[in-house]
Amino acid sequence: MAAEPDRPGGSVAAAPMEGNGAYNRHSSVQGSALAPAIAKLVEAAAAVPLPPPAASLAIADYGCAQGHNSLRPIGAALAALGPRFGEGRAVSVFHTDLPGNDWAALFDTIARDPASYRKRFPQTFAAAIGGSFFTQLLPADSVTLGWSSWALHWLSAVPVSIPDHLQVGCSRDAGVRAAFAAQAARDWESFLAARAAELRPGGRIVLLFRADGGTATEPYLGIFDAAWRAVLELEGSGFLSAGERAHMVVPTYHRSLEEIRAPFAAGDFHGLAIEHDMLALGEDPIWRDTGQGADAASYAAGWASFFRAAAFPTLAGALDDSGGPGRRHEFFDRAEAAMRTYLAQDRINRAMPLACLTLMRRER
Ligand SMILES: C[S@@+](CC[C@H](N)C(=O)[O-])C[C@H]1O[C@@H](n2cnc3c(N)ncnc32)[C@H](O)[C@@H]1O
Repeated sequence: MAAEPDRPGGSVAAAPMEGNGAYNRHSSVQGSALAPAIAKLVEAAAAVPLPPPAASLAIADYGCAQGHNSLRPIGAALAALGPRFGEGRAVSVFHTDLPGNDWAALFDTIARDPASYRKRFPQTFAAAIGGSFFTQLLPADSVTLGWSSWALHWLSAVPVSIPDHLQVGCSRDAGVRAAFAAQAARDWESFLAARAAELRPGGRIVLLFRADGGTATEPYLGIFDAAWRAVLELEGSGFLSAGERAHMVVPTYHRSLEEIRAPFAAGDFHGLAIEHDMLALGEDPIWRDTGQGADAASYAAGWASFFRAAAFPTLAGALDDSGGPGRRHEFFDRAEAAMRTYLAQDRINRAMPLACLTLMRRER
């Protein structure tokens, strides 16, 4: 699994999700929050101008991971588009993610998952692109509809180390917070410029990502606290060196609605306009399914495996190579076990603030 090169802060930026299909198996939190964004994608599919009949129609999915959570939105978009262009028209779906993504799991999911859009829409052809979504990934003017869920809070780089935590939202260091805010602003503009180039005039992209809900102590940040305590415990026990622990950062940033809107202050940004935006709370399905935390073991296991699948590969990028894959596996297992202990003692509803946006490419 490839990680991006070392960053100025000394830590590695985002690594792909945990492999061997583990993310697919442990991403029900993400999947359970998709509905409002899927509704917006269906609206967008009804509104976009279609390319001429002989031209191919492209849908792009940015930050697909292993694909399970992409099946419903892409299927809903195809169902909304189908009646507009009639039987038999071919559609290309481009799933994109970092080069080291678990592509085998993605293709297996598309071929075999009972929920796959390929089963309902056999004239749909899936392809994958390995590259950062902060760059242009598809030809100019080629994408009719875009989708990205739970990906845009990941940054392209760690701007500075975080001395007092794993996640900037939990740090009390004003300089660190400012550096991450600046990085997030640069990344957001890079993402928007790349999508502005790829989208056809009138094309739309729907985005769903973790955001800042505006309160100082978001309950979901407690998951990062549990991870931080787990990492400190592993350092205390001698399993992690101080240097490894110091380089462990989860390079995510939760933008406020103001930060999201900032590039559009003067109107369009590179020809992209906000058609719709909102902040919503994504339900905590683990809280719901464990009798509001009454089943402490299942509650703790649910949140620890969510965090493991999404963030441990990035944290493991800070391990030195001396222990090989065995030590990496041991890190995953020991850190997850420690997180379970802490989460079992801190059972609350961790509904997460999410931003949901529809952006439209204006005529050139
Ligand atoms: C939490 S997963 C979301 C997967 C899926 N879309 C979902 O809704 O469950 C975030 C994905 O974004 C990808 N990602 C992070 N930074 C990226 C970047 N710069 N370019 C492309 N993909 C990126 C990660 O590799 C990961 O697969």
